[in-house]
Amino acid sequence: MSKIITFKKQVGSFKKKITVPGDKSLSIRWVLFSSLANGESKAKNLLISEDVLAAINAIKKLGIKFKKKKNEFVIYGKGLDGYKYKKNLKIDAKNSGTLGRLILGLLINTPYAIKIIGDKSLSKRDFKRVSDPLSKFGAKFKLKNNKNLPLTILGTSNLKPINYNEKKGSAQCKSSVIFGGIRTNGTTYIKAKKSRNHTELFCKYLGLPLNVTNKKNYDEIRINKAKKIKKINYSIPGDISSSAFFIVLTTLVSNSELIIKDVNINTSRIGVIKILKKMGVKIKFLNQKIYKGEKKADVKIISPKSIKPINCPTKLNSEAIDEFLVIFLVAAKAKGISYFQKLEELNQKESPRLKWGVKILNYMGVKTISTNDSIKIFGNPNLKLNKKIVIKNYLKDHRVFMTSVIAALSFGGKWEIHDKDSINTSFPNFLKIINKFKKND
Ligand code: S3P
Repeated sequence: MSKIITFKKQVGSFKKKITVPGDKSLSIRWVLFSSLANGESKAKNLLISEDVLAAINAIKKLGIKFKKKKNEFVIYGKGLDGYKYKKNLKIDAKNSGTLGRLILGLLINTPYAIKIIGDKSLSKRDFKRVSDPLSKFGAKFKLKNNKNLPLTILGTSNLKPINYNEKKGSAQCKSSVIFGGIRTNGTTYIKAKKSRNHTELFCKYLGLPLNVTNKKNYDEIRINKAKKIKKINYSIPGDISSSAFFIVLTTLVSNSELIIKDVNINTSRIGVIKILKKMGVKIKFLNQKIYKGEKKADVKIISPKSIKPINCPTKLNSEAIDEFLVIFLVAAKAKGISYFQKLEELNQKESPRLKWGVKILNYMGVKTISTNDSIKIFGNPNLKLNKKIVIKNYLKDHRVFMTSVIAALSFGGKWEIHDKDSINTSFPNFLKIINKFKKND
C-alpha cells in the first residue's frame, strides 16, 4: 500500500540550526573500500538508509562481517582477496545505482558467476554503461535486454588493464572502472568528464596507486593494482544532497535563516550552491575543514529579497546532478525565465527526473518549455498555490517525494504525496526534520 502524506499549509519564517545524515556517496564507498581492507574499519555517522544497508548486505554475502557497536559501525575486512562465497550468489542492489555499478568493478575477478538484481526502478536503468568498459578488463556479462538488471557477471583471473573514455560525467561509471583498475596488473587509463571525485580522494587517502591530472574539462586518471588497503576509520560528514532540500526551503521562505552543521562540501558536489548564489541567494561556508581529503563546513543560508533567473552554465550539471529538481523550484519563484540545458543524464536517474521536474512545475501552474534534455522555467516571484496537487506513480524516486514536500511547504496548496517510504533510500529522518519547520508556525 502506498503511504500517503498530505500538506495544507506553508511554513512561516524561521531561524534554525540542523544536521543532516551522513553523505550517501561516502557511506557506500566506505563500505566497499572497507570490505577490501585488512582489519577492522570503523565509521561514525554512517548513513543508515536502504541504499547503504543494501551495500552492507552485499559485502556480507561476499563473506565480510559487519557489526554495529553503539554509534559505530565496524567492517572486518579480510584484504583485497578476502571475499569468500558459494556458487549461485545473488546480490540485491535494491534502489542503488551507486552500489549496483560500483560493486561490479570489484567483482571482475570473481571465479563464479554472480547475479545482480535490483528493484523496479533500478531494473529500468542502464548497466551497459558499466558492463561495456568492465568487459574490456576480461570479465563476462549477461544483461537483460543487453542493458538492464538482472545481470550476471563472471570474472577472470587473467585481467587486462584498459583505456576508458568516460563521456557522460558519471561518477558511478568512473568509480566502477577505478575499482577494476585496483584489481588489475598494469596501468588502467581513464579520461573522465568531470564528476564527483570521492573515489579518487578515498584512493589518495589510502595511498593507493592512483594518479589524477586535472585538465579544464576532464580528468586523466591512471590506476595500478593495489597491494593492500589499510583499515579506514571515518566519520562521515553530512550529505550536501540531503541539505539541498533545506537550503531551498530557506531560499523560498522569506525572512529565514538556516545553518546546516558539518556538511561535505567537496567542490565536485556543490553545484547547487554555485547555482543558487548566481540566483542571488546568500550562502556561506563556516568553520571550513579538510577531513581525509574531503572538504566540510557548516553551511549558512539567508533567504534572499528576490530571486534572479539563471541561464545555468552546463559545466555545473554534473556537480548539481542530484539537486536539479529542487533547483527548479527556486527558478519557479525567480523574476524571469531560467534555462537549463544538456540535462539528458537527469532522465537516467531513479525516475525520469527531468520529466518529473516538468510535471511538478506544471501541476503547480508554472509554465515550462522542455525537450528531452532541457527546460525553460517561467518564474513568478508571487507564486502562491491554493489548488490540490497529487504526486504519485513516480517509481518511488526519493528526490521526487522530497522535492514535492519542499514545494508544498514553500508555495502552499493542498498536496497529497504518495509513497512516503521512498525517503528510506537516502534520508529516512527527512520528515522528522521537516516537522521541526512545521512546528514553527
Ligand atoms: C553517485 C553518482 C551520481 C549521482 C548518484 C550518486 C555516486 O550518479 O546521481 O546519486 O555516488 O557516484 P551518476 O554517476 O550516474 O551520474
